[in-house]
Formats: sequence, structure tokens, C-alpha cells
Amino acid sequence: MHSSFQYKGSEFYMEGVSLTEIAESVGTPFYVYSYEFLRDSFTAYKKAFSEMDTLICYSVKANSNIAVLKAFSDLGAGYDIVSGGELLRVKRAGGDLGKVVFSGVGKTREEMKAAIEAGILFFNVESEEELHVLDDVGKEMGRKAPVALRVNPDINAKTHPYISTGFKKSKFGIEIGRAFEVYKEANKMEGIDVIAIDAHIGSQIFDLTPFVDSVKKLITLADDLVKEGINIQYIDIGGGLGISYKLDDKPPHPSMYADIIMKEFSGKPYKLVLEPGRSLMGNSGMLITKVLYLKEGTEKKFVIVDAAMNDLLRPAFYESYHEILPVVKGSQSKEVVDVVGPICESGDFLAQDRELPKVASGDLLAVLSTGAYGFVMSSNYNTRQRVPEVLVKGDQFSVIRKRETYDELLNLEELPDFL
Ligand code: LLP
Repeated sequence: MHSSFQYKGSEFYMEGVSLTEIAESVGTPFYVYSYEFLRDSFTAYKKAFSEMDTLICYSVKANSNIAVLKAFSDLGAGYDIVSGGELLRVKRAGGDLGKVVFSGVGKTREEMKAAIEAGILFFNVESEEELHVLDDVGKEMGRKAPVALRVNPDINAKTHPYISTGFKKSKFGIEIGRAFEVYKEANKMEGIDVIAIDAHIGSQIFDLTPFVDSVKKLITLADDLVKEGINIQYIDIGGGLGISYKLDDKPPHPSMYADIIMKEFSGKPYKLVLEPGRSLMGNSGMLITKVLYLKEGTEKKFVIVDAAMNDLLRPAFYESYHEILPVVKGSQSKEVVDVVGPICESGDFLAQDRELPKVASGDLLAVLSTGAYGFVMSSNYNTRQRVPEVLVKGDQFSVIRKRETYDELLNLEELPDFL
């Protein structure tokens, strides 16, 4: 575990703050993130790639809280966004809009217009039809939209199928075999300024070989395009570096990743763009939840907690594993339990058949590695309020998103006249 997280006596601390203290102040459940951790993760990337002209565009979808975005922008990050909403968040955070790349297979005309007006670095265009619409929007505005084509390099990222995006059957990007022709067409368009190539092959990747294979293909394509007179300045290799979810997982360090990538770029004129999300935020965050009830079935023991699949979807959706630790170390004896939430679905679990120290009603548990794709994927299922988010820095903590109120949750609904 990172030095920002440790037990002092029997109490679990994030940096200089006891998690029990935060729980007493904000109630449970809640997400909590360590500033030190996210800063160190970003600095590790920056250092690893310091020998190359590199822009690190934090992937906003991983954790889009405005305070988190501000923290990254203060450290020098750009952003990878996928919607007009995320663009608005970057603006609110005071981020540099000239360092924004805009990905996603279904951008609307309105989103394109807003991004051109904002002056983003480039669009990652994912289909020929999208390219034509963007050209049209650019012309309408009397502007040229800066563009990368997102190519699909047909690479197996060897990760969970739901988060593998660079193989032929995936909905993402333009087939690499067609890319050259589409680039030539794009280069003639009045509303388009071709400046980059992009790919993103998947997420939670441990094996570095697929990254190398993808980068080789991107560089070959870029070289061919430059020979054709097309001005490729940036190569955006996406995100995807994996993190440890189990305490003994050994993901590649950003420096190993950087070494193999930079080797491929050596002697090449291109600037590098990265889009990491999980590897910057994942291990910086925890979901803190309280034990409500213990229940013993004939086959299983259940620990029923106040957080559920609506708060943290990953276990239900990907059968993902998250370490769970007691916030106050208590009993030495252990038992095998399912940790489940109050939602009316059998898929509502945070852990299954997990050996945990014995707990009692009222105890607090920390669900680790939930700083990325945690809060952002939460919902109001079962009319549950979305939980607060807290940022810790040194011995301070601050609520960076309040717990939703029932009014906020219900106020958008209206009764029609005909009822
Ligand atoms: N760039 C693009 C175009 C992406 O689609 C993604 C993630 C990233 C960058 C950032 O990837 P990262 O560095 O975080 O691996 N909800 C899933 C993950 C979905 C990832 C979607 N795209 C999960 O909880 O595992």
C-alpha cells in the first residue's frame, strides 16, 4: 500500500486524517481520495516521460469531480473528455482548454460546436460519418476543427472483454486498414485540420506487449501520412495501464511503460499524448461503508453494509475484486463472508466468499481501489442518494461533493395532467 494509507495503532488513516473522524463528520457511505496519492501518481508519469515532449491528458471519466480535475490541472495535466458535460467540468475546474482531447463514438453537433469554441487541442474522430459532420460544423463556424482519427489497431489487450476496445469487433475507432484513405479524405476537408493519430486499446492492462504493438502500428501510419504531406504532429496512445486491486498484484510501473513507449518514438518527430485515468486515480480512493447487519444463512454468512451496487458498480458489473479492510482493527479471528448491500438484486455484492476479520454491526469497512470508476458510475437505483466525496490533503479534509438530498433526487419528476 502507498505510504498515504496506514494504520496508526488500530486506526486506519488516509494521510494525516483518521477515516473514523471523517465518517463521524460526513456519515456513511462516502468516497474519500488522497491528494498525496494522486499527486504522486501524476508525478511518476511526468517523470517517467520527461525525456519526451509529452502531454498527459487525465481521462476525466475515471473520476470527474471538479476538485480532482483542478488538482490535476495544477500539476500540469490536460484532459481526455468524452462529452459536453465533461467539457463543462474542465471549464469549472479552470483547466487549460487548449490541452483537451475529445474522444467518444457519439459526439453530437452541439458538443462539437462547444469544443471548437472552447479551442480544444483535438478531436479523436471515431467514424467516417462523424468526420463529415465535424467538417460540416467546422465550416458552419468558419473554423477548422483540429482532428486525430481514432484508429482501431486490431490488438488484443488481454483484459476484461467489457474494457477491451482495440480489436476488430469493437465499436471504437476506424479500422487501421482504412485509416490511410480516410486521412487523405480528411486532409482535403475545409472544416478539418488533421494534426494527430489516436488509439486506445483497453483498460486495466498488465501486459505491456499490446501497447508496443499498437504504438508500432500508429508510428508506421504516421510516417506514411507524413510522406503523403499530411501534417501529423501528435500521436495519442490512449490510456489503459493497469493497477493493483489485490494487495499482491504487480502492475507495471509507469516508468516501465514509459521506457518501452519512448524506445518506439526515438528519433521520431511526434509529440506524445497519453490518456491515463485509472492509473492516476484508482488507488487513491476508498469507499467507506458501515456494517448494518450480520446474517447467517445455511450456506453462507452475509455482512450487510450501507453501501451497495448503486454506489460501487464494479463488482456486480465486472465481477471485479476490491480489497476490504476494517477501519478500526479489531478481532484477530477471521471468517469467510459475502459483503452485500441493501439493494434488491442478487448481484448486489461488494465481495463474495471473502475471508475478513470478524465484524459487528456499526463497524466501518474500507473498500479499496475505488478512486476510479467508483463514484462516477454510481446511480440512484432503489432511490438511494448518491454519496459524498471527500478529499484529504495532509491533516485536512474537505467534502468535495455533498450527499445528494431527497429533494434533489425527486425534484426533476413531475405528475402529468392526465393522471
Ligand atoms: N481513453 C479512452 C478513449 C477511454 O475510453 C478510456 C477508458 C481511457 C482513455 C482511460 O482508460 P484508463 O487509463 O482508465 O484505463 N468502467 C471500467 C473502465 C472503463 C474504461 C473506459 N475507457 C472499469 O471500471 O473498469
